[in-house]
Amino acid sequence: MCGIVGYIGTRQAAPVILDGLEKLEYRGYDSAGMAVYNGTSIEMVKAMGRLKVLFELTHGGETLPGTAGIGHTRWATHGQPSDLNSHPHMNTEGTISVVHNGIIENYIALKNKLLKKGYKFLSETDTEVIAHLLDYYYKGNPMEAIIKVMHRVEGSYAFGILFSEFPDRIFAVRKSSPLIVGQSKEGCFIASDVPAILKYTRQVCFIEDQEIVCLRRDGLKFYSVDEEEIEKEPVTIEWDTNAAEKGGYEHFMLKEIYEQPKTVFDTLNPRIRNNEVVIEELGMTDEEIRNLGKIFIVACGSAYHTGVTAKYVFEGMARIPVEVDIASEFRYRDPIIDENDWVIVISQSGETADTLAALREAHKRGSKVLGIVNVVGSSIAREADNVMYTWAGPEISVATTKAYSAQLIALYLLALKFAWVRGELSADELKAYIKDLRRLPDQIELLLGCKGRIQKFANRYIAAKDIFFIGRGIDYAISLEGSLKLKEISYVHSEAYAAGELKHGTISLIEEGTLVASVLTQESLYQKTISNIVEVKSRGAFVIAVTNEGNTEIEKAADYVVYIPQTNRYFTNSLAIIPLQLFGYYVAVGKGCDVDKPRNLAKSVTVE
Ligand code: F6R
Repeated sequence: MCGIVGYIGTRQAAPVILDGLEKLEYRGYDSAGMAVYNGTSIEMVKAMGRLKVLFELTHGGETLPGTAGIGHTRWATHGQPSDLNSHPHMNTEGTISVVHNGIIENYIALKNKLLKKGYKFLSETDTEVIAHLLDYYYKGNPMEAIIKVMHRVEGSYAFGILFSEFPDRIFAVRKSSPLIVGQSKEGCFIASDVPAILKYTRQVCFIEDQEIVCLRRDGLKFYSVDEEEIEKEPVTIEWDTNAAEKGGYEHFMLKEIYEQPKTVFDTLNPRIRNNEVVIEELGMTDEEIRNLGKIFIVACGSAYHTGVTAKYVFEGMARIPVEVDIASEFRYRDPIIDENDWVIVISQSGETADTLAALREAHKRGSKVLGIVNVVGSSIAREADNVMYTWAGPEISVATTKAYSAQLIALYLLALKFAWVRGELSADELKAYIKDLRRLPDQIELLLGCKGRIQKFANRYIAAKDIFFIGRGIDYAISLEGSLKLKEISYVHSEAYAAGELKHGTISLIEEGTLVASVLTQESLYQKTISNIVEVKSRGAFVIAVTNEGNTEIEKAADYVVYIPQTNRYFTNSLAIIPLQLFGYYVAVGKGCDVDKPRNLAKSVTVE
């Protein structure tokens, strides 16, 4: 969702900015632009469409001279995708240029005031208001103007700002929208996410809410909104630069699906010692774990689906009641949180606006919050009381796969830890669970071997109109994710249903040839779900079943079966999701969809 890159240094800025924007393509966008100080004035190029258009317009940045500039990929919120609505936006004289990520909630009121003062607007965006407001407050001191704007603006923002009267500086500021800064011998950078600048530097600083950064060629200075200077130590980013490259795979999504054995291992391994689960970052005493009343798990999309699985695991294994909430619901539903309850928020990006708001809501109600987060230093990671990182590395494809798998592992580990401390597990049981966890990476590897078979099967369904996913218990949670994976990248309509719920309405949609993907990994529920399979088959459905090795009885009911290796009933999601991810992927590939960047979607949803 909108990407910002800025550079000031000794190199030509435009190619560096284009290169960085390319690394942010995964965030989703519909137009792109750059503004560079060319020695006498600010020159701007922007266009609707892919970065390729901007690349061609500027010959890869070469035709835009200058060593200080800002760039942007826009994901339209206010005003449709168009050349005019693309960022940067400028004041009328073209002396102030702004790129923006976020939403200015009071932009209409601000715009009306500026219109009355004679300002003319070219676009429908909320961002153009900022360019004119800066102009209105600018009396020769950029910091003063920026601070005044910060006091007037409501909503979320990350800004990169260029003043032609101060061509040796770029200014950046943020509130509830991601922005990082980096420094190398060749200059300073701003970016919405680390991969954009990883090629140039690993030394990164995180900007806190309502801090201002002034970047010069030779260094960075941070200020509070009261203009007091703030000292910051850079953090060294350890990510492998190759992690943000496709490495020979046709798509990032396929690469990330294949990275899952490693991701699972990396999330698991540091937290298992001598057959014990050790989560140093948990920040809960054994006493607090024993006294836990209830756990609220709050997240969005796929991360929410891991929470649905976790409900079954926590309740079954550790006997702790769990409520799972979609973050955009939780934040407004006036939840009842008691003293001994904890809130767990789950987020790959750590920047999802609704999840962040839910975290803040939980804090307001006096609850402690544990974040399960992938991106180090992200807003959720910084605001949660404690953070359990998933160590999946950068996930570029918009549709999550490896981060989802890592989140599941983090949740299993927490469930085991809680169950052990609360006396719900014997040492032998704990040992057996840990053994099963350790086998998951190899078992996932094995399942990835079914790629060819799934591809063939998927090719038969590229023209499908509706696909249904059904399951019970944890299998329902897997179905939710299988369905989302398919629909978000292939645009085939699909729905996930608790298998027993089908006959309360949805079964009327089943007709001759409708594909029903059924998940049966919970032994105690096999027979129940088989009955549901029989019901849909008798109405003409074609049924694929994902089930445990050995459950050959299913072959009598289903038309096509994918077996997953044996594990215990709580961890089956980590295996059953693999064929479903591959299925979604190959249907999308077969239809010629832009798999890594599905339409209308953004990787990091930083607006409500
Ligand atoms: C689906 C997907 C989304 C995210 C959701 C939350 O493939 O990726 O549903 O899971 O937007 O994002 P994070 O985890 O960054 O909070």
